Amino acid sequence: MTSTEQKITKAVFPVAGLGTRFLPATKAIPKEMIPIIDKPLIQYAVEEALEAGITELIFVTSKGKVAITNHFDYMPELEEALSLKGKTKELEAVRNCTLPAGQMMSTRQSKALGLGHAIWCAKEFVGNEPFAVLLPDDLFFNTPNCLKQLVDRYFEVGGNIAAVTDVERKDTNRYGILKIKKDDGTLVSASDLIEKPAPESAPSNVAILGRYILSPEIFSALDKKVVGSGGEIQLTDALTATMDKTPFTGVRFIGEHFDCGSMEGWLKANIYMGLELPETRDLITSYIEEKGFRK
Ligand code: UTP
Repeated sequence: MTSTEQKITKAVFPVAGLGTRFLPATKAIPKEMIPIIDKPLIQYAVEEALEAGITELIFVTSKGKVAITNHFDYMPELEEALSLKGKTKELEAVRNCTLPAGQMMSTRQSKALGLGHAIWCAKEFVGNEPFAVLLPDDLFFNTPNCLKQLVDRYFEVGGNIAAVTDVERKDTNRYGILKIKKDDGTLVSASDLIEKPAPESAPSNVAILGRYILSPEIFSALDKKVVGSGGEIQLTDALTATMDKTPFTGVRFIGEHFDCGSMEGWLKANIYMGLELPETRDLITSYIEEKGFRK
């Protein structure tokens, strides 16, 4: 295995997708702005990146997604109004999601051609260094957080790495799946990646989740704009194409994961967070008791 001393300071947030699994909610609102309790999905991902040491945040957006970058911008009128009314808690919440000047960059993916293409759109901002990718609809909870778990392992293995987890075989057609070369329980090295294989043809049940650290060599494969599964330019195809030079390693994520791009995952994440937070825990449990909800 290779090792690297290179610090990871840049993160790409591909947020230009159409969010079709969550219609009609996502018809006019970006999927990434849908809240879990009181914070939009994108804010969880940005906080995770900052905690993991990221200092430059690159958003790949598209038409109708301006709310995402606005969410992290300075809002003087709102701050002034809250300040005048003495709403200190609310003011703090607003300030907590304001990124310092120059830390946020945005580029546009003019057409939703796929995740691989969205990442390619960030090429000029990334330059020639390894970088993180966070898909905000995948929501993770643990300490250290998911990206930090990857950053910690990156220094050992280098190459391209992603968070992985074991999924039920019936669900392999929802993920990029690893063909396993070696598996030590935490690190899984792959000899191939298959995008959304049917359960009967999937080479394993180890699935890629939405956190990556990628080597800049990935752009040479993405430059070719190969159209793959679902008619989209897939990141998994580029990872496979560069595997001979840049090994791919899955890092089994430890903690809770929710696919909030689906209604089921979003609902579960709200219940999980609601039960975790001291200010909502009692409210949820007593409401369930009061209503006498039964299976
Ligand atoms: P998804 O496939 O989960 O998102 O892509 P989607 O396409 O928006 O949603 P569905 O499947 O239609 O419901 C994972 C991430 O990649 C981004 C999405 O915004 C999401 O954060 N993405 C996807 C892009 O930025 N551009 C694309 O062309 C495709």
